[in-house]
Amino acid sequence: MTRLTESTIWHQLETHAHACAGLHMRDLFAADPHRFSAFSLQLDDLLFDFSKNRITRETLSLLFELARFADVEQKREQMFCGEKINLTEQRAVLHVALRNRSNRPMLVDGQDVMPDVNRVLAQMGRFVEKVRSGAWTGSTGKPIRDIVNIGIGGSDLGPLMVCEALKPYAKDAPRVHFVSNVDGTQITEVLKELNPETTLFLVVSKTFSTQETLCNAHSAKDWLLASGAGEAAVGQHFVAVSTARQRVTAFGIDADNMFEFWDWVGGRYSLWSAVGLAIALVIGMERFEDLLSGAHRVDEHFRTAPLEQNIPVIMALLGLWYCNFFDARTHAVLPYDQYLHRFPAYLQQSDMESNGKGVTCDGEVVDHATGPVLWGEPGTNGQHAFYQLIHQGTQMVPADFIAPAISHNDLGDHHRILMSNFFAQPEALMRGKTAAEVRQEMQTAGIAEDEIVRLLPHRVFPGNRPSNSFLFPKLTPEMLGMLIALYEHKIFVQGALWNINSYDQWGVELGKVLAGAILPELQAGPPADTHDPSTAGLIKYYRELNNAGR
Ligand code: F6P
Repeated sequence: MTRLTESTIWHQLETHAHACAGLHMRDLFAADPHRFSAFSLQLDDLLFDFSKNRITRETLSLLFELARFADVEQKREQMFCGEKINLTEQRAVLHVALRNRSNRPMLVDGQDVMPDVNRVLAQMGRFVEKVRSGAWTGSTGKPIRDIVNIGIGGSDLGPLMVCEALKPYAKDAPRVHFVSNVDGTQITEVLKELNPETTLFLVVSKTFSTQETLCNAHSAKDWLLASGAGEAAVGQHFVAVSTARQRVTAFGIDADNMFEFWDWVGGRYSLWSAVGLAIALVIGMERFEDLLSGAHRVDEHFRTAPLEQNIPVIMALLGLWYCNFFDARTHAVLPYDQYLHRFPAYLQQSDMESNGKGVTCDGEVVDHATGPVLWGEPGTNGQHAFYQLIHQGTQMVPADFIAPAISHNDLGDHHRILMSNFFAQPEALMRGKTAAEVRQEMQTAGIAEDEIVRLLPHRVFPGNRPSNSFLFPKLTPEMLGMLIALYEHKIFVQGALWNINSYDQWGVELGKVLAGAILPELQAGPPADTHDPSTAGLIKYYRELNNAGR
């Protein structure tokens, strides 16, 4: 296959990007009264406005041609058909089956996975009902008041982000806590507040071999046993979510209290599986299924809508446009909803662990940028922190603005003020402020001419800074499911365009191996002589500090 950067369409995009360099969005809007309707799409209640981008109709048609050149549609079909598109691990990528509310058969190795998916959903439903009703008790007969999810990466960020986002739906539910960091401070602080008799631990780990998770799970078990509970209590205070039955039972968790998932579910795409157990316990099984339905709605859209009307495809193409043709190295996600405060952190794993790759599926080193650094914070907090750089800094930071029209907390003028900022920021980024406008403003304010001359360059905003806006009625479980799935498929499309494997994470594996090798050196014996002088020096100093501290 022709290398992406050597393809005719890539060259056409380069030429076109060059031609677009002088275009300002302000002028594009002025020239085209239909720009908003031409460059926005609605999926049910969700409005996706991408008109504030540095694109013309020609840009889009070239980008769609690139998608066709990269076989995005065919690759999409391969994913939905359960082909082993995770080439380095020989695995299917079928998280869409977990939320396949149509229940149409979905095959992996010729086997329909839906009976298994439905079986585990039913198991979750029964368990959730027992815990929420108080029928499941701790070992002393008391109902569960606190749930602690122990997991890391995909076994933490997804459930954590969703539990935070759907807090308004957590009525009459146990409280939920998350422990992920191997830093003992986190679990210590969480457990301080809890009563062992009424606490249930969910140990969530696809492999059940992740060091951080096992270390935390063992400390949790020790805490329970130290309260006077016998070994037999472990079964009532610990359940597991995993693909590794033997390791789960070896830990002391009853196989009946293990919720299974499968190797065709990537960790960072797993919140739809039993990994979402904490979510279901907190918002109830019906609401959890609403979350799945929202994602399924997007799956159907992604699979069937033509590229030209396909929201995740357009999100992906716009991202690539800036990343590869405007050198944008980061992408900001800016939710104007406090409940979405962990959404950027969650997306960091999904996007950066997926598309932070430098080799194509064919094993060639890529000669273009791939996944951007993704980052963000809730709206107005960001405005008073880092928006300055987005407005007037020297790098382009494409941004996604996300907001519900209706707040769960109708408090005075809060939401209207928040929304006024949601509308103002993308507009300001797009329009900027010209020297003439700044001058006029300062003259009206009565500022002296020499002062105007001095201040003017500082107060000019270049504008022409791209953004997408997502506006929807309310942050419900369905809507959140839709939002997450849109980003998941965007990531898929970018991986397909760049021809990289979005579904492995060898970079993370390396860190695990290296830390494992260093661990014994921190206690006794001479440090290995294989370290570079910097690492050896740091380890030596660490040991000196520890010895002095004893
Ligand atoms: O960070 C690497 C990773 O493998 C993630 O992909 C995964 O979500 C996380 O570790 C946790 O893995 P596990 O669920 O197997 O404990």
